[in-house]
Amino acid sequence: MTSTPNTQNQKPKTYSYGKQTIEQDDIDAVVEVLKGDWLTQGPYVKKFEDDLSQKFNAKYVSAVSNGTAGLHLIALALGWGKDDIILTTPITFLASANCILYVGATPDFVDINPITYTIDTNKLEEKILVYKAKGQNIKAVVAVDFAGHPCDWKKLRQLADKYNFQLVNDNCHALGAEIDGNIGYASKYADVVNMSFHPVKHITTGEGGAVLTNNFELDSKVKILRTHGMVKENFPNESRIPNTQHPTPKTQPPMWYYEMQELGYNYRITDFQCALGSSQLKKLDRFINRRNEIAEYYNKQFSNDERFILPYVQENAKHAYHLYPLQIKFENLQITKTEFFEKMKQHNIGLQVHYIPVHTQPYYKNNFGLNDGDFPIAEEFYNNEVSIPIYPLLEEDDLIYIVNMIKKIAK
Ligand SMILES: Cc1ncc(COP(=O)(O)O)c(C=O)c1O
Repeated sequence: MTSTPNTQNQKPKTYSYGKQTIEQDDIDAVVEVLKGDWLTQGPYVKKFEDDLSQKFNAKYVSAVSNGTAGLHLIALALGWGKDDIILTTPITFLASANCILYVGATPDFVDINPITYTIDTNKLEEKILVYKAKGQNIKAVVAVDFAGHPCDWKKLRQLADKYNFQLVNDNCHALGAEIDGNIGYASKYADVVNMSFHPVKHITTGEGGAVLTNNFELDSKVKILRTHGMVKENFPNESRIPNTQHPTPKTQPPMWYYEMQELGYNYRITDFQCALGSSQLKKLDRFINRRNEIAEYYNKQFSNDERFILPYVQENAKHAYHLYPLQIKFENLQITKTEFFEKMKQHNIGLQVHYIPVHTQPYYKNNFGLNDGDFPIAEEFYNNEVSIPIYPLLEEDDLIYIVNMIKKIAK
């Protein structure tokens, strides 16, 4: 009988598919801000943005309250609206597609590549041509670096230039991934990039996100929209700066002055979250290396076994392993996927599935005429996929236990 590690006289150890790593210096960084004057809208937000900008080689960064807010701001800043068609992948978190709905645009999907599990660029071009034949152009593509493996960004850039659409990298799974050794690939190829710092991600701020771009105008829009559409300086020409009892020149409005140019939101992040973010970012390389070590161990243990299909890594890519998506061929086994999840849970291993294909969600079926069977590769992937635990805190005996239980139960 294999027993959960480190359980002698302790609560049994439990596992989930992902978990944050918080160390004493992270706690110290947050406490320092809590003792200071600025809990929000202070210097740590700018510092975190500068740190992200430097790490990922993006000219402009806006830290925001979460990754979903970031996607909403991107949709607004790119000017999506009614009559715009935006394409994305069905194998992603709801937010990648929901941001299209928030602004009243129309979502459509492109099936995944069966090897990399990211958007299939051949099928994408086919779909663009189908729309073109009907006299319609697509406005944008939201491509997702699923599990931490970069999409084929060179091809995506080529298609974006050829067919003139906006390119968004929903990079929430792939902080620390690389193409050709470049950790800044996301804003190199895409027009705009979205990140999330939810605790299951590579680095965390609790809740949090960021929008990265090399486009000044786009960044300015995101920054205004994340705080109510308010402008406090550099007013556009059409501004109506009020008369005061002590009039100041038009270029120098009174100190209290602000105006609303757009309908915006409160999607701000706090200073103590950003202090945590800056502290965590220093450790990203270490975290990614540990995730890669764990993935290598799993690869070794599950290879040459007909029950399993392993995640693939393209030659010019570095995987960030937000997830380790193991495919288990349940159709050849006695046990069902539901029973497998239940049994693993009984042994303290919490698993997850990433993802139920978005087009099969009732809301999407009911409102956009989508159906089961529309994207068969994504659906087959969903039937097989199991996200098994991967996070830096896992130790050797944890991994041995997890692998043993999977092999024992998947019969
Ligand atoms: C691919 C993807 N996009 C967007 C999001 C949304 O991020 P958040 O949870 O920070 O709102 C997530 C979060 O899980 C995600 O995985």
